Order: sequence, then C-alpha cells, then structure tokens
Amino acid sequence: MATVDKEAVLDRLRAIRGPDDDRDIVRRGMVSDIVISGDRVMFSVTVPAERAAAYEPMREAAETAVRTLPGVTGAMVVLTAEKKAGNGAPGPRGGPAIQPPPQPARPPHGHGAPSPSSRPTGRAARPPAKAGVPGVGAIVAVASGKGGVGKSTVAANLALGLKANGLRVGILDADIYGPSLPRLLNLKGRPETIGGRTLKPMEAYGLKAMSMGFLVEEETPMIWRGPMVVSALTQMLREVAWGELDVLVVDMPPGTGDAQLTMAQQVPLAGAVIVSTPQDLALIDARKGLNMFSRVDVPTLGIIENMSYFVAPDTGTRYDIFGHGGAKAEAERLGVPFLGEIPLDIRIRETSDAGTPIVVAEPDGPHAKTFREIARAVWESVKRERAEAKPPPKIVVE
Ligand SMILES: Nc1ncnc2c1ncn2[C@@H]1O[C@H](COP(=O)(O)OP(=O)(O)OP(=O)(O)O)[C@@H](O)[C@H]1O
Ligand SMILES: [Mg+2]
Repeated sequence: MATVDKEAVLDRLRAIRGPDDDRDIVRRGMVSDIVISGDRVMFSVTVPAERAAAYEPMREAAETAVRTLPGVTGAMVVLTAEKKAGNGAPGPRGGPAIQPPPQPARPPHGHGAPSPSSRPTGRAARPPAKAGVPGVGAIVAVASGKGGVGKSTVAANLALGLKANGLRVGILDADIYGPSLPRLLNLKGRPETIGGRTLKPMEAYGLKAMSMGFLVEEETPMIWRGPMVVSALTQMLREVAWGELDVLVVDMPPGTGDAQLTMAQQVPLAGAVIVSTPQDLALIDARKGLNMFSRVDVPTLGIIENMSYFVAPDTGTRYDIFGHGGAKAEAERLGVPFLGEIPLDIRIRETSDAGTPIVVAEPDGPHAKTFREIARAVWESVKRERAEAKPPPKIVVE
C-alpha cells in the first residue's frame, strides 16, 4: 500500500483556514507534528480556547482533506488549546483540556452538560452530558492515586476474570504517556480502520483491546501532551468499534489529572475500582482517587489491595511485608466495598511481562481464582450501583 508522507499532508492543509483567519493553518503554525501510522494520519490543531466551537468546521475540513489523500484510510484531527498561564490547573469540573478564558466568576450551569468551550474536540455543540458508548453496557475505570501499584496488571487480569465469568469484555488503556496493554496482552501491530474514521479494536484472549500504544511510536508521544490527551481519550472511546460489550475496563493513568477528570466527566462510568498497595502512603493516594471520583459523582465500586502479602515459594510461609490489611480497614472506614486482595507473587509479574496474564497463563491456579472472584465482586458492585438507579448526576462545585 502506498504510504503518505508529511509533506503531502501539509500540502492539503495549506488550503484550510480558520473562521476568521487570513492565512492557512500551516502558515499560522497551528498544526502539530504529524503522526503517520500506516494508512492513518493524526495531528492536532491549536486554536484559541474560547473559540473551539467556531473552529469545528475547520477541523472537519482538515480531516476530510487529509482523509481523501491517496494512501490514507483514516484521519484523526483534534483541536487543542494552549493552557493560559495561571489557568492551567484543571478545576473540579469543566473541561480540563480547553480552558475557557479567565472569568471573574463562573456560575455553575446545567446538570453537567459540558460547555462548548470545554469540549476538547469542539464537535457538535452541546451534546448530552455523558453520552454513552453505543453497545457498551458498563464502563469500569481501574484507577489509583499513585503510580506503580499494579493497576495495569490488575486491570488486565480483572478484564480476563470478567471474561472467564462469561461476560463480553473490552479493555481500554487510557494511559497515553505509558501504555502497558501492548506488552501485557502481547499485542503487536496496528489496529485496522473500518470506513473512514472508526478503528477496529485489537483482540487478545477473547478481549477487545485498544491502546494508544497501538497508534503511536514510543518515541513520539510528545504531541499527545496536555489537551491532546483528553481528545485522544474520548476518541479512543467513541471512535472504536467496540461492538456489543457487557463491560469495558479502562486502565487509567496514575494520578488525578486531566485524563481522569475527562473520563469521569465525559464518560458514563458505571464506577471506579481503586487499586492500592497496603502501604499507608498508597492509601492516602487511594483516598485522593476516591475523592476525585466522588466529586464528579462516579460511584466507587470498591478497593482492591494489590501486593497484599507475600508467600515464600519454597516454604509456603506467608509474609505481610507491607503491613497487610490496610486497604480492607480503609475500605470499611470509608464505607466502600472491599473487593479482594492479591498477593505479591513472582508469577504475576512474570506472566504480565510475558504478555500472558496469570488468569490465562494459569487458569487453574490460585491467582486466577482470586481474580475471577474479584471480577465477580466488581460485577456485583456494578449491578448494585445500577439497581440504585440514580437521579441525574448533580455536580458539586467546590
Ligand atoms: N501482585 C503482583 N505481584 C507481583 N508483581 C506485580 C503484582 N502486581 C503488579 N506487579 C508488577 O509490578 C510492576 C508495576 O505494575 P503495573 O505496571 O501493573 O503498575 P501500574 O500501577 O499500572 O503502574 P503505572 O502507574 O506506571 O501505570 C509490574 O512489573 C508488574 O508486573
Ligand atoms: Mg499502568
């Protein structure tokens, strides 16, 4: 297949202008680095934050111009905005990506409907808040306040546990800076496109899987910084042909930044699972994660304690090296379900590194059983949350 080059893309873009610009978007320096992945082209266009909606036709024109290039089957163009100095910190609500210009007072409005300027892609103005992903029954975020607690490992095994329990499951790697799914599920290559803009998810062990790691080279993550992250995430959710799924597990990046807020605000999350290690510090971080989700009215499905204890492979002696039980006590204190504990075990690490998570590598072993039980507890929690059919989410402005 003929591959397209950057110059050809830029050439097309030289015909595109913004709503009130006299020069084209290339000359105005609005176009980011251009990522070409096989027959797919991705880039961002930086626009004034407060004019995102007005630039939407320009975005569409740019996308069409590039998509119709020979050798291109898909184009993804997202609008981004520079964060204004002193206005960079994402607030508890409102789009974290494209910040509206500083205003003395911003009255709370609506029931969570994002303002046009908070829509990172600036697409169709004022969509219903938290529009679902068609065909996807429940979206479950796996999160933690702190990095390195085993979130991705747990997310992959939880997804496989849900699958083993008979559900149709997808997994989305929302960690755009450090995607883990290609390694965890031993997935290589690029997803195919269907028609112009929809991506076909990859498949592994019966899971549908999508990760930014499939789309961008490891050396070129720079353009996905900041606002780009938010757009990329929503597009990975909505422009992927997930098909019919009972549950989509989302492996969140660590922390409580843009990506988490976007997911929490723009995606109808059934709830969040918080992964924590037993250390006190990690629990403090876990509380941060909990607080963030509750602030945007996403229910906590429960806490999973990872690296909970260590069983010596030779003697079978159990060591509570990290002060086991902290997460359970904390969950009780906070009144959220405790979903289970996973030991620190070399096989869990080895199988993850090998791209065959323990649930599929050793389905009859004790860890696979643990993960299936945790998956059952998570699913019960999802159903419980649903049964408590809630009124439309209210936004708490702090
Ligand atoms: N229960 C466990 N037993 C042994 N090793 C584990 C366990 N859980 C995770 N690990 C290992 O710990 C390391 C970090 O795990 P992982 O990448 O899943 O963490 P993470 O929270 O997703 O990290 P990040 O914050 O970077 O996204 C990996 O090498 C993984 O194999
Ligand atoms: Mg991770």
